[in-house]
Amino acid sequence: MPRPLIVLGIESSCDDTAAAVIKEDTILSNITATQSVHKGYGGVVPELASRAHQKSIIPVVDAALKRAKMNPEDLDAIAYTRGPGLLGSLLVGSSFAKSMAQSLEIPAVPVHHMKAHVLAHFINDGNPNPPFPFICLTVSGGHTQLLKVSSPQEFKILGETIDDAAGEAFDKAAKMMGLPYPGGPEVDRLAEVGNPGSHSFTKPKVDGYNFSFSGLKTNILNYLERNRRKDPDFVKKNLEDLSASIRHTIVEILMEQLEAVVKEQGIKHVALAGGVSANKGLRKALQDRADQFGWSTYVPPFEFCTDNGAMIAITGYYEIKSGAIGSLHMPPTARWTID
Ligand code: KG4
Ligand code: ZN
Repeated sequence: MPRPLIVLGIESSCDDTAAAVIKEDTILSNITATQSVHKGYGGVVPELASRAHQKSIIPVVDAALKRAKMNPEDLDAIAYTRGPGLLGSLLVGSSFAKSMAQSLEIPAVPVHHMKAHVLAHFINDGNPNPPFPFICLTVSGGHTQLLKVSSPQEFKILGETIDDAAGEAFDKAAKMMGLPYPGGPEVDRLAEVGNPGSHSFTKPKVDGYNFSFSGLKTNILNYLERNRRKDPDFVKKNLEDLSASIRHTIVEILMEQLEAVVKEQGIKHVALAGGVSANKGLRKALQDRADQFGWSTYVPPFEFCTDNGAMIAITGYYEIKSGAIGSLHMPPTARWTID
C-alpha cells in the first residue's frame, strides 16, 4: 500500500493567516491567526493585511507542524491559496509556500480559494460527504455563488452576485449600526433574540439565479437615517430587532434563489459553504426548506466555514490525486473564475 499523503495547506487570501496539516483526508492540525488590526476601519485594509500576514506566517506554519507532530521533511506537498483574494495578501502565503516547497524539493500546489470552501465538506470529520452532483450555495465576505459541483474538479456557476457579497451585506449593515468589523457574526448573535418581522426591507429583483445586495444596503441606510432623525437612539433601542430583520431579509434573498435553482436542476443534495454558512439564521432556513422539500443538506462544522488552512490542504490533496500540481511559475491572482 502506498504511504499516506501528508499535505501542509496555507491560506492568506484576506485577513486570516492559516495553516493546517492533513494526512490523506484527515486533519492533524488547523491553526488560524485572525487579524484584529482591521476592527476600527469597518473593513479589511489591504496594506495592513499583507503586513500582518508577514508577521504571522512563520509562527502559524510552525504551530501547525508542531500540533501535527510533523517535521517539514515529513511533508509530501504544500498547498497554498493562489487566488482569488487580495493580491498583497496572496503574495505573502504563495511566496512562503513556494520557497518552503522548493527548499524541501516537494510540489507547491496552487489552490482556488472558492473551490476550497466547497471541498471543506470532504474533510474526514465524521460527517457524511455530499454525493456528486450537488448544489452548493457559497457565501463569504467576497463571493456569493450558486454552484453545481459534479466532482472535486468540476464546478459550474449557476448564479452569483452582481454587486456585493452576502458577507459584505452583513458587514456593511453592521457598520451602519455602529458594530465593529466583521459585523456578520455580531448581527447573527443579536438576531437570535430579535423579532425578524419588526422592520421590513426590500428584496431586489434580479435576472436568472443571480443575487444583488447593493439596493438592500441603500434601503437599510435610508431607513436608519430616517428613523435616527426622529430619535437619535433609534438604533441602540432596536438593535436586536433590526439585526433579526436584516438577517431575515438577507437569508430569504439567498434561500429564494437556492430553492429555484434546486427545483430547476432537480438535484436534492444541497450544501452551504463559506464564512456566512456559520450564520444560525441561514442554517435554520436551510433546514426548514429541507424538511419542506425533502432535500438532504450538508453544512460544514463552524471551524471549516470561515477561512482556514484545512480547506486549502484538502483541496491540494484532491489536486494531487487528480494529477494537477501546478508549477512554481504560476503567479498569485486576485481574480480567478471557479469554472
Ligand atoms: O469565507 P470567509 O471567512 O472569508 C472570505 O473568503 O470572504 O467569510 C468572511 C465573511 C465575513 O463577511 C463575515 O462577516 C461573515 O463571513 N460571517 C458571518 C458569520 N460568520 C462569518 N456572517 C453572518 N453570520 C455569521 N455567523
Ligand atoms: Zn473565504
